[in-house]
Amino acid sequence: MNKTKRRYKQLLSQYLKCDSEDIFLYWKGRVALYAILKAMGVQKGDEVIVQGYTCVVVANAILYLGAKPVYVDIDSNTYNMNLRKLTEAITNNTKVVICQNTYGLSSNLEEIQKIASEKGIYTIEDCTHGFGGYYRGIPNGSSCDASFFSTQWNKPFSTGIGGFAVIHNHCLMKKMIERENQKISPNFKECIELSIMYFVRGWLVNDITYWSMVNLYRWLSRKNIVIGSSSGEEVTSIRMPNDYFKGMSVTQMKKGIKNIRRLKDVNIRRKKCAAVYTDFLVDKKKNHVKEELFSDHMFLRYPLLVNDRDEFRKKAEREKIILGEWFEAPVYPCYGNMRMWGVKEKDIPVSMDICKKIVNLPTDVKDMKKIISFLEKEIDLIVDEQ
Ligand SMILES: Cc1ncc(COP(=O)(O)O)c(C=O)c1O
Repeated sequence: MNKTKRRYKQLLSQYLKCDSEDIFLYWKGRVALYAILKAMGVQKGDEVIVQGYTCVVVANAILYLGAKPVYVDIDSNTYNMNLRKLTEAITNNTKVVICQNTYGLSSNLEEIQKIASEKGIYTIEDCTHGFGGYYRGIPNGSSCDASFFSTQWNKPFSTGIGGFAVIHNHCLMKKMIERENQKISPNFKECIELSIMYFVRGWLVNDITYWSMVNLYRWLSRKNIVIGSSSGEEVTSIRMPNDYFKGMSVTQMKKGIKNIRRLKDVNIRRKKCAAVYTDFLVDKKKNHVKEELFSDHMFLRYPLLVNDRDEFRKKAEREKIILGEWFEAPVYPCYGNMRMWGVKEKDIPVSMDICKKIVNLPTDVKDMKKIISFLEKEIDLIVDEQ
């Protein structure tokens, strides 16, 4: 194995307290999910349960295998799957349940695993938001049969784009290893493009240029002019792109080795910022993340419900406060017709309501004063505590 790959997997395994041989690296997190589903033998006729508040690429990975995504509504406190709805959604065709770690907040994994194991159903933890956090004292991504992580731009630590799978059910191992040599290798042009984007992100993106740069990047990537988080066809069709099953480049691994070292400090800051938001919102009797959900979680973003989101966004942008958009649609970022992905709005009323009101506050912030005084000024736009 190449030295950089070995080092990167070693660093990941130290964080995740797993064996580095259990880690498989990919071009993106979604490819890791696809590889896990494939190793689980997911195929036409199977159902895969996923929450109706996720990223479209999760649904795509299921659809590319000919299986059916079954969307379960979320719990408004955790932004993760509602357990009662999960139980109702299980059928004889259910093969897998994907438990998400939204914003870094864990699903109730113990309960989900109990439900799944009684019926012989596999579980996968979508830890794309949760690297570096814990669930009941153990690292996120350790509890299910397998988990997958993302190291895309806005994730706990970044390799630009990137992802990996971790396998805990060793019956899946042989299948994962078998497919390793079927991965396409990233080409030279892609590695150069990534290096240019690292430079632009590091030197040209700041609070002032953020939204114009993000909008330009999104436009260029939808037109497939630059490597994007999602290509145009991934948000407009359910056909698998030709070069989808791709491995991770050494360029990405090197970036990961550098950025993972800063993660401990960043995560301490994220938790502190989240606590400041909660204190403020509790005091004002506004919606907030419940304190009992705090203990171990890593707050990649802080979710907040607002009444007039367009107005709130406009005002935040004016003050150069960067708000996130996860998830303004149940299979984000697909707005409008979601039938192609099998979403039935009537089955996910809580998610539909939250999608209309959600904004994500930043948590990697050195000085919170500006944001808190903004929230204070716009307090009437924030949804009251339930
Ligand atoms: C919940 C969730 N799952 C999966 C993914 C896919 O990760 P990647 O972009 O690395 O494929 C994302 C991307 O943001 C996500 O938000």
